[in-house]
Amino acid sequence: MGLMLTTAGESHGVAMTAMLIGLPAGLVLDVGAIDAMLTRRQGGYGRGGRMTIEEDRVEVEAGLIRGKTLGSPLLLRVRNRDHRIDTAPEVTRPRPGHADLAGMMKYGTRDAREVLERASARETAARVAAGAVAAQFLLTFGVEVLGFVRALGPIRVGTVSEEPGELRRLRDASPFFSPDPAADEEMRAAVDAARAAGDTLGGVFEVRAFGVPPGLGTCASHDARLDARLAAAVMSIPAVKGVEIGLGFEAAARRGSEVHDPIVPGTGRPRRASNRAGGIEGGITNGEPVIVRGAMKPLSTLMRGLPTVDARTGAVATGATERSDVTAVPAASVVGEAVVSLILADALLAKTGGDSLAEVRRNLEAHLRAAEALFPPAPPAGSPSP
Ligand SMILES: Cc1cc2nc3c(=O)[nH]c(=O)nc-3n(C[C@H](O)[C@H](O)[C@H](O)COP(=O)(O)O)c2cc1C
Repeated sequence: MGLMLTTAGESHGVAMTAMLIGLPAGLVLDVGAIDAMLTRRQGGYGRGGRMTIEEDRVEVEAGLIRGKTLGSPLLLRVRNRDHRIDTAPEVTRPRPGHADLAGMMKYGTRDAREVLERASARETAARVAAGAVAAQFLLTFGVEVLGFVRALGPIRVGTVSEEPGELRRLRDASPFFSPDPAADEEMRAAVDAARAAGDTLGGVFEVRAFGVPPGLGTCASHDARLDARLAAAVMSIPAVKGVEIGLGFEAAARRGSEVHDPIVPGTGRPRRASNRAGGIEGGITNGEPVIVRGAMKPLSTLMRGLPTVDARTGAVATGATERSDVTAVPAASVVGEAVVSLILADALLAKTGGDSLAEVRRNLEAHLRAAEALFPPAPPAGSPSP
């Protein structure tokens, strides 16, 4: 068994909670690093309103002894400062682009409050807390997962560093969590213009995982293919409407010779001359960095409101405005990093098994040795082929 995650909590309830089952014993948890990721989820240029009310902090309520995991379920709680769920106003004017109308019909209520409290992206605080734990687990095996913004509205990031340290440094220095300082000013202008117009912006985030061992995932079962699982995880982030792996949709327009990555000799095992596949072939990691992107639609709540129908009166109305951010693509990139970390940690554990960190390490090292033993060293250049 790998990792299992359940979250609970409403946007204005007492807390958002995550239960993570399947972590091995012996992982020293850095609670400060979980908080840092929660803070990152609340940031990014283009937000406002509630993000200044909430200062997310995690409380670890089960699964630890003296700061180390026990191998038992880990229970994480992020309190909601704003917890007025029972007194929050009814919402009878369903907002286009939200779960409101579909959920009213599903649950049989005229009050979309009963739907939006759980549909709210506040839930992603719980997933980020759990994802931060998965990221720490992966880091102990040299796997580093980095989420960043690739495009904001029409503004695209130019170059992306292939080097994780540099990529992290640039991302953390940007108010948009983008790795391209040249794009920041254009993004700022786009956000300011959208705000002035009472409008919102979407964009694209990317998650790259460096140091991923080959052989995670499977080609044997359709629903366990790693690309399928990553796609589902990224698509499960509210407002994500498209997912790409590697070249993604761009591959459809190219010839095969411009898509598939040549296999070349390397130390230990063969490498790839390029990584257009995004590190996954046949649902299995091939040892190159895993690259996943999510396309986020513009936020549904617009300051100027959108046409709707009031469920109490049947009259034409304007959609309720709970609060108004211009964009949350930077925040979504953090959620992307979290969900990709959770899937990769699960796939690693599915490959290695192991009740303790030491056992996972032994099994992973044995797997990597066996994979490398498959390939004899490349003959010196110029030697005749057999
Ligand atoms: C981190 C994050 C923050 C979000 N913040 C907002 C927001 O402030 N306003 C809004 O209208 N939608 C926001 N959303 C998107 C909505 O939650 C989402 O569009 C809505 O629940 C409907 O789900 P769907 O777009 O996946 O169909 C946010 C999404 C994410 C990932």
